Amino acid sequence: MAASPGRRPISRTPSRPKSDVSIRRARPADADRLAVIAEEAFAPYIAAIGRRPAPMDEAHADAIARGEALVAVADGAVRGFATYALARPTASLITVAVTPAAQGQGVGSALIEAVEERARAAGAGTLALYTNAAMAGNLALYRARGYTEVARRHEEGFDRVFFEKPLAPAMAKRGSVDGIYGRRVGASGLRVDPADPLLFDIDRPCDLAALLPGKRAVRLEVGFGGGEHLIEHAGREPEVGLIGIEPFETGLARAVRAAREAGLANVRFHQGDARQVLDWLPPAALERVDVLYPDPWHKQRHWKRRFISTPGLDRLARVVVPGGTVRFASDIAGYVKWTRDHVAAHPQFSLTQDSETPWPHWPGTRYEDKARREGRPSRYLTLTRE
Ligand SMILES: C[S@@+](CC[C@H](N)C(=O)[O-])C[C@H]1O[C@@H](n2cnc3c(N)ncnc32)[C@H](O)[C@@H]1O
Repeated sequence: MAASPGRRPISRTPSRPKSDVSIRRARPADADRLAVIAEEAFAPYIAAIGRRPAPMDEAHADAIARGEALVAVADGAVRGFATYALARPTASLITVAVTPAAQGQGVGSALIEAVEERARAAGAGTLALYTNAAMAGNLALYRARGYTEVARRHEEGFDRVFFEKPLAPAMAKRGSVDGIYGRRVGASGLRVDPADPLLFDIDRPCDLAALLPGKRAVRLEVGFGGGEHLIEHAGREPEVGLIGIEPFETGLARAVRAAREAGLANVRFHQGDARQVLDWLPPAALERVDVLYPDPWHKQRHWKRRFISTPGLDRLARVVVPGGTVRFASDIAGYVKWTRDHVAAHPQFSLTQDSETPWPHWPGTRYEDKARREGRPSRYLTLTRE
């Protein structure tokens, strides 16, 4: 565990984050600001503890360099920060600090939630921290946030109280993710570095021009699996920006590695639910969305989980530019018919291709190969946004 997890001199009572608090990864240029915030936030505890709390003298720049530091920005300035260490099965929340003027406004809560989310996404089952026994407000706050006290020890001259919180499975916390189940880290154990610059989060407002600068259009691939189609597509059309979404880390790690090896500058990845990314994007942001071999959800009671559905088409209609397209491929005849029927009933999409032949330059996908080997032919549908 990193040197001093979990001290948190922030607001005494949990409160809702202010809507204008945004969280982003800390950059090297933030290091001085973090040192100032730590100084301001922890100084009031010197008398109670009898010495300078450890976070005042920590090298927060190390956490920034590791990519394990977040800052909270409110009213245009950095008001707080959190450092953490990702590990499985237990990740550590190291320090949370909020500048005194911003305490009591939910800044600390927003930071803790963001760390919990990252720990969860990294496959951690537990988030651990410790705080000082003299920081009574923090003890109450962590309990209120679902942390359980697991130990008290006198260590390195500090009276420490240790807490842990079990983290719900990564996708289960969010209300809108019905339809992604199972393990998010595959047996191969391939991992992504959460600080990889090819990855992006959706916990702050979308700035597409900053995400994929200078591109003539942006496209998105839903559930790219191992990324074979996405990588080929990105390499063939470097003037187009490509966003790839995949909840499963093994495929994500494979695609990130392939993008780096191919030197691709026009692709960005998000680990998670494509529905959330679509909702995060501004209207008419995408020229095209590829939905290639989406999970078919064979049982009738699960059909509502299908990516193509009435709400799914509404979501796509908002974000696909008029004249833009959604490409749908499937080897499951029932899902193909379902998609035809839903498109026919949708006022903003029309079916402009329904073919047994794929689109030009089609590289195929891993799942398609498997379907072909197992004797299931594919169907390729193009949905055009009115
Ligand atoms: C049958 S696989 C097809 C993978 C790949 N497109 C191919 O053809 O080889 C379906 C993929 O969709 C992903 N997936 C399922 N629900 C998703 C969602 N809501 N957002 C993004 N990806 C999703 C799964 O993790 C899985 O990798």
